[in-house]
Amino acid sequence: MVSSPGRLVVGSLTAALISLGVFACGDDEGEDGLGTDATPDPEPLFRALEDDLIRTCGGPNGTCHVRGSFQQAPTWLGGPDPYVTVKRYRGVLPATKEVGDSILLTQVRHAGPALTEAPNDLYRRVSDWLTAEVPGPPLPNTGAFSVLSGFNSIPLDTVAPGLTDARLTFLATETNGTLTLDALKLVAPPNANVKVDSPFFVILPRSGKVKAEPEVNGFKGELTVPAGESVDLFTGKMILLRWDPTGQLKIAFNKIESTPGQSSGGACTALDLFNSSALPAMGKLVDLLPDDDEDPGEPLGQGSCLGCHAKAPPANEGPSPAVQAMDLRAAATDPAAACAQAKIWINRENKAQSTILLNPTGKGNPQHPMKALTDNDPIIQGIKAWVDAEQ
Ligand code: HEC
Repeated sequence: MVSSPGRLVVGSLTAALISLGVFACGDDEGEDGLGTDATPDPEPLFRALEDDLIRTCGGPNGTCHVRGSFQQAPTWLGGPDPYVTVKRYRGVLPATKEVGDSILLTQVRHAGPALTEAPNDLYRRVSDWLTAEVPGPPLPNTGAFSVLSGFNSIPLDTVAPGLTDARLTFLATETNGTLTLDALKLVAPPNANVKVDSPFFVILPRSGKVKAEPEVNGFKGELTVPAGESVDLFTGKMILLRWDPTGQLKIAFNKIESTPGQSSGGACTALDLFNSSALPAMGKLVDLLPDDDEDPGEPLGQGSCLGCHAKAPPANEGPSPAVQAMDLRAAATDPAAACAQAKIWINRENKAQSTILLNPTGKGNPQHPMKALTDNDPIIQGIKAWVDAEQ
């Protein structure tokens, strides 16, 4: 893409990029705006770069980000005082308190330039100003991770002290740029209670503006998970729009802390029904499906819940994906331990919405490699009798 000063080129591309204008929102003329010093007061830092920023991002006569008359560019430099406007504009001062997440720094070349291409060292000066506005420390967060289709388990070990073995788990589905996270759970380690406050999902596209918008992609409020338990993260569901499948996610928390705790073992209260009803049901035969999209609908023979979820791995291999998702390997030797694992997949607020019932009926994880059963299949009924009794 070539941009030539003062010229406006509009080209129609694909449906996704409806129309892409290229013009020089920046030019080299003008004073050197260097005037920053070590003062912690952010406003002078902004005032010193204001003219350069307007010249770079305002576009010819302010038609871009000052007046917004070109392609309805957002007017984050508009209003009577650009300093007031810019600070209020969503994403400029990043909600993660990590300056590198600011939309100003992560925007790439679009109709206008990327800040990294701007003259007079503008990128660094904007970053210094933002650092003065948002001195940190950054909110506790998971760091960037890639999302797998299906089951994901995100360790929280590095987010804050005392969180070894804490994790967030969810089932992910991506359709046409929308990422849906279901069965979203916070799992506390056996020796610590975990309390979180207002977590939110940060979208990190492979290239382009970071989206750190707690009001849109987050939950409000506090949630405490007792040691050894797993609880739906608020509604247990999150829909992220404009998802770039090649991008990554990050989860940030307004606060996250742990207090020493003692797991009750997540013990089942209806172990007898688990043994007499759920386990026999989970040993019955079901039709298998390939676990990728190659030949959906074509059965691969038969197996059972336990055949996959209780299967010991071959020597010197780690547990299979089925066991990593739900570990029933103790079913024969220590049913109470297996029951505690299966119980993680019960939704205690709404039993009918339990993943352990939704998955085998084709209403949960779309990657689940077995042919869907009907709700009144004896296997489902057998599992359900235990699910309904479990406290
Ligand atoms: C062919 C092997 C296979 C069979 C049979 C099977 N599962 Fe799974 N199951 C898996 C795999 C693999 C995963 C992990 C899916 C992923 O990584 O997306 C899984 C995941 C799960 C999960 C955790 C949530 C999730 O989707 O990750 C639950 C609950 C579950 N299965 C329940 C059952 C029940 C109940 C049955 C029997 C009615 C059953 N499964 C039969 C392979 C199997």
